[in-house]
Amino acid sequence: MEKRKIIMDVDTGSDDAIALVMAMLDEHFDLLGITAVNGNIEVKLTTDNSLRVVECCDKQGEVKVYKGCEYPIASTLISWTAQSFRGVPIREGSKDNATAVHPDQLPLPAPTIKEEEDSAVVFLIETLLAAEDGEITLVPVGPLTNIAVAMRADPRIIPKIKEIMIMGGGHDVNNSSPASEFNVWIDPEAFEIVLQSGCKITLVPLDATHKCFMTVEEAQKVRAIGTKPALLIADLIEQRTTGYAQMDAEMKALNGAPIHDALAVCALVYPEVLKNVVHVNCHTDISRGFAYGETIIDQRIRVNPEPKNCYFAFDADKDIFVKWMIDVLEKDKANRGM
Ligand code: BDR
Ligand code: CA
Repeated sequence: MEKRKIIMDVDTGSDDAIALVMAMLDEHFDLLGITAVNGNIEVKLTTDNSLRVVECCDKQGEVKVYKGCEYPIASTLISWTAQSFRGVPIREGSKDNATAVHPDQLPLPAPTIKEEEDSAVVFLIETLLAAEDGEITLVPVGPLTNIAVAMRADPRIIPKIKEIMIMGGGHDVNNSSPASEFNVWIDPEAFEIVLQSGCKITLVPLDATHKCFMTVEEAQKVRAIGTKPALLIADLIEQRTTGYAQMDAEMKALNGAPIHDALAVCALVYPEVLKNVVHVNCHTDISRGFAYGETIIDQRIRVNPEPKNCYFAFDADKDIFVKWMIDVLEKDKANRGM
């Protein structure tokens, strides 16, 4: 089987951690590296958490972690955003709802390994420049700061990218402002730079990820697998369920939580997990008003529409998603001789 070469760009983060486990354990992937970025928590913590996940999967020495951008490209320069958590440090010591979903530290031992010396942006540029055209797939599941900075610093990386599978955006579902999804909202300018890069892009937005929630009952099935990565995923689903119950009535009723970032990984193996995928023209609102960070799809009926620049998934198939997760974890268990 020819493995797909991927780079995971993460703000780990509980669902990022699940996405990382799956990217490391699914044998369809050759994971070239993990780049961490500011987002759910500040970048030193997203880097530290990513290292913890690497060790949880026993991939130390094999999968390297690179620390990336500490601040969004421009949004932190706007005075009214200073009160929100666009800046860094963002939530030190606070006990808000988001903290319940993404505590500073994952429930794993402190890492014994360290991140690489090179920054995430240097790693992205050097790795992509050394690749053939269309060789590497990027999977950003946090704010797009690292990827956008790399594209601006050296646009020669753009043709090297096979495609970009992004967890981000929302049409009928949003979570950080009335108009915007978190990964876009943290760094709207970066999101727009990547959207308009000319790469093949699929957006896995909240409209799709909210269909792929996992319940506490499903977490128990994962827990029964009994390996370290499975126990981590089960713990994180339960933790996310508790966090979502404080802020999302629908998820509270379902006794579950969306596992956003892992859906983007699944979609590379099983594209059919994404449903109602439409080729669209999409822009990010960077006008710094009420809709700052909105992903706007051009739905006008017209003779000469704006050029289409991404695939937008409006729906997803929960059964495919959950089966994929359990199958990969079971296979890993067998590989461990358990
Ligand atoms: C996205 O925001 C983060 O909190 C999650 O990790 C996910 O990437 C969902 O809006
Ligand atoms: Ca994330």
